[in-house]
Amino acid sequence: MSNYIGKPLSRVDGVAKVTGKAKYAAEFDAPDLTYGYVVSSTITKGRITHIETSEALSLPGVLSVITHENRPKIAWLDMSYKDQDAPPGSPFRPLRDNKISYSGQPIALVVAETFELARYAASLIRVDYREAPHETNLDTNLHRARKPKSGLASLLKPPPPKPRGNFDEVYAASPAKVEGRYSHSPEHHNPMEMFASTVVYEKDGKLTIYDKTQGAQNSQLYVTQAFNMSFSDVRVISPFVGGAFGSGLRPQYQLFLAVMAARELKRSVRVTLTRQQMFTFGHRPATIQNIALGADSNGKINAIYHDAVGETSQFEDYTEIVPTWSPMIYPAENVTLDYKIVPLDVFTPLDMRAPGGVTGVPAIETAIDEMAYELGIDPLELRLINYSDRNMAEDKPFSSKELRECFRQGAERFGWAKRNPKPGSMRDGHNLIGWGMSTGMWEANQMPARAEAVLTVNGKLRVTSATADIGTGTYTIMTQIAADTLGMPMEDVLFKLGDSDMPLAPIEGGSWTAATVGSAVKVVCEELGRKLFKLAQKIPGSPLAKAKWDDVEFVDKHIRLKQNPAAAVSLQQAVDQNGGAAVWQKSTSLPAMMKQKNYSRAAHSAVFVEVMVDEDLGTIRVTRAVSAIAGGKILNPKTARSQIIGGMVWGISKALEEESVMDHTIGRFMNHSLAEYHVPVNADIHDLDVIFVEEHDDIVNPLGVKGLGEIGIVGMPAAIANAVFHATGKRIRELPITLDKIL
Ligand code: MOS
Repeated sequence: MSNYIGKPLSRVDGVAKVTGKAKYAAEFDAPDLTYGYVVSSTITKGRITHIETSEALSLPGVLSVITHENRPKIAWLDMSYKDQDAPPGSPFRPLRDNKISYSGQPIALVVAETFELARYAASLIRVDYREAPHETNLDTNLHRARKPKSGLASLLKPPPPKPRGNFDEVYAASPAKVEGRYSHSPEHHNPMEMFASTVVYEKDGKLTIYDKTQGAQNSQLYVTQAFNMSFSDVRVISPFVGGAFGSGLRPQYQLFLAVMAARELKRSVRVTLTRQQMFTFGHRPATIQNIALGADSNGKINAIYHDAVGETSQFEDYTEIVPTWSPMIYPAENVTLDYKIVPLDVFTPLDMRAPGGVTGVPAIETAIDEMAYELGIDPLELRLINYSDRNMAEDKPFSSKELRECFRQGAERFGWAKRNPKPGSMRDGHNLIGWGMSTGMWEANQMPARAEAVLTVNGKLRVTSATADIGTGTYTIMTQIAADTLGMPMEDVLFKLGDSDMPLAPIEGGSWTAATVGSAVKVVCEELGRKLFKLAQKIPGSPLAKAKWDDVEFVDKHIRLKQNPAAAVSLQQAVDQNGGAAVWQKSTSLPAMMKQKNYSRAAHSAVFVEVMVDEDLGTIRVTRAVSAIAGGKILNPKTARSQIIGGMVWGISKALEEESVMDHTIGRFMNHSLAEYHVPVNADIHDLDVIFVEEHDDIVNPLGVKGLGEIGIVGMPAAIANAVFHATGKRIRELPITLDKIL
């Protein structure tokens, strides 16, 4: 029965969030709390020759200044430990030695009785450096590109498949060809909530840590490994996250520094990073791609070349799936792909919403638009000519793919048929109007996870799993799933998350949480239901005494016979039968790998965009966008729509505004604040429309969900770039498309 799944319900945590009851990592209090402030390196590469802390330390109320010189001995600083999202290499280890590897690297932590004092004291620290030459420019270092090392992370981010067919020959003979170089600038995540860790030092030296993270257990494991502590001595709690977008997939340095200081001082410590310091760890890497497509005169694409070079740090090989999207979308027989990285003197890049997807897909989807103009075929028609139900990168059929329906419904809603293909042919006064479109695609993964469910003696259901809700709606959809599985009203169900003591869940990312934790919640509630059913059968004179499991259903807080709803036992009666104790169940959900392995599993989208480009000023507005999504079963159309809208807004931002600008002479990101790092404001966002097409899939997972966290952004940038071409006749292959590129 589904009373809740599929309904557009408001967030169960909505009231807590808008009334300030929801507490974030830097808002938890502790007795005698102290405050840490991080001092950041002002050079990009070299060594610290001297660090003068005496003036800072002389201030009353300053408790400690910890640097590489006086830091406690921490075994981890000399060994290697990797967090759940660590690429091959050695993770950055703060205060390890005097070496500077990137601009903004943390070099000292000042701890004081107040935040203001710590910040002031930090300003008194004098540092002498011996600078070394740095390289931060991807463009001028392409000759150093090499293959990334492989490691555990390569399981989720495999290198591109080997060439198939013969690209060179077929491309040379193709009657229609396009070729281009596509690039984008680095971007920083910039969630609203600052990165922070509040480490509460308990009497016995145990730590309770409130951390901003996408995985409480990832942070817990990091702290236990780095500081050689036992699991029972470290608890990480993270009930609310004010946005993350991937930045919380890895423990950040404020966690390490706060724990180190708390253990040194035997005091509770909070370390909060500033907005500027958020530009001193992971970012979406600058990437440069080359694409060549060859098609026959009917529009069939026979040859694809796609290469990509991304940046990484000197200490880790960050990788993404970039060129592989091309054969995942287009079924060409002759394909050559290549992916390389260039180590630069920057921090290791970090997964950011649709990592690799919103890099590779916009490039191929722009090239496809170029091919449509080359051939004189409508861009939507060209995509239909090259439609495939098979993923040619993996050479497997899709478990489901309703992209054709996305194209149909999206085009109809947008009015695509009325498009005059000629660039510059549509205008409104001094505004050139452009219509563009793109395909989007993102993987539908499922990970193993555990959950616990308890029906209390009062007949309330409490379900827990150590996952996160980074604003995505996890609390709400898990409550819906639990309530429906046991036939209970949502008001009687409490879903809790974000505590390392809870049953095991992976980091919240990759759009896999609905599938992963949702499946665990469903399984644990079903197994709890079986226990309740057995209890119900033991009640003297039970109408269910002879019933089989398959004969019953859970409806209106009752277990009842499907054939005879009058034969029912209430859940309260069932739990009463348990001798005054709550009924408890803990379960594991594993992906059905045997069932999944023969299929490629992905969400798809079709995006249609209208832009208006001011002919005189070069300003671009996205006045209308329709995103039609094939994302499997939609658990909650309201939170789902919000997810997609959020992705579309960021897609506009990525296409037109966002870029972290590096001054390569000093190797530093210069626009490290929201005053200069442009993100869309209300005036930038106009009419956004979301369509969810019907898509049934019982291979992806028992719920049939595909995840919606990332698919919303993937198709936007190319749709906008293609619309800009349609408006202006200018093909811009470098994102963001700022007005200087238009004029
Ligand atoms: Mo997402 S970049 O996996 O948080």
